[in-house]
Amino acid sequence: MIICRNSSEARAQVAQWKREGLTVGFVPTMGFLHAGHVSLMGLAAREADKVVVSIFVNPTQFGPNEDYASYPRDEEGDASKCRSAGVDLLFLPPVADIYPEGAETFVECTNLPEHLCGLRRPGHFRGVTTVVAKLFCLLAPDVAVFGSKDYQQLKVLEKMTRDLLMPIRIVPGPTVREEGGLAMSSRNKYLSPEQRHQALAISRALGEARRAVEAGENHAATLLAAMARTIETAGGRVDYVNIFHPETLEDLDVLDVLDGPAHAAVAAFFGPARLIDNLRLRE
Ligand code: PAJ
Repeated sequence: MIICRNSSEARAQVAQWKREGLTVGFVPTMGFLHAGHVSLMGLAAREADKVVVSIFVNPTQFGPNEDYASYPRDEEGDASKCRSAGVDLLFLPPVADIYPEGAETFVECTNLPEHLCGLRRPGHFRGVTTVVAKLFCLLAPDVAVFGSKDYQQLKVLEKMTRDLLMPIRIVPGPTVREEGGLAMSSRNKYLSPEQRHQALAISRALGEARRAVEAGENHAATLLAAMARTIETAGGRVDYVNIFHPETLEDLDVLDVLDGPAHAAVAAFFGPARLIDNLRLRE
């Protein structure tokens, strides 16, 4: 595995592979890697000849009161996970390479961020689209893989790629969960054993909502109230629960009954950690 900290060298290596006729799959991450990230690397390897992983804790996607400074880091552990996963190039750019002195250009998707996490974290998706667009410009991969765990992020990045005519195929990966159903996240590190147990309520609430829909419940307000209750009873603080159209992300709780495709998402605090998860309720 090549480890590269320099953007020009990473660009040159990928360009070299492409001259040799090889395709390149890319998995952008912020590190502190877990089995969810590793599953995306496996997916990238199935979709392309060479796999590139980036680790970059992107300052512009964190709000002023968020965890940029304390975001967990483990470069050695991450490198060994990438090596075992068969990654060809691990890219660890310094902040100054991605945001050159005086940088004032951002990439912003205008509508999809006006929902869900975008409302709670102003500027977050602008930071995400900006950094991913920069990484795409730098590396020009053929395929990029993103997890469905960050469902809104996946939809925003699909939209950005399409809107900016980028010749990059976006491949979604399924959410990888711990035993008991908790979606894997680098931020699970912030949970005490007790909070980790309590946080199982998030995936339980989503699973109960889907089973209720399968059993014929089609009233969004009833489903939302039940989800919030499950999380609060377990000791969580709900940031939002939402039922929305899976492509437009428009709220569906204005409808009396759900009669088309519907997706549910939750953000909740357990202790210091803000955790998110989502599930398709109806096709
Ligand atoms: P990060 O949170 O490190 O996640 C990197 C990728 O792993 C994202 O595509 C995310 O959706 C995926 N992922 C996280 N947890 C997962 C799980 N349990 N199962 C499957 N996939 C999972 O998301 C980011 O970093 C950043 O916003 C980034 C896109 C790198 C831009 O800075």
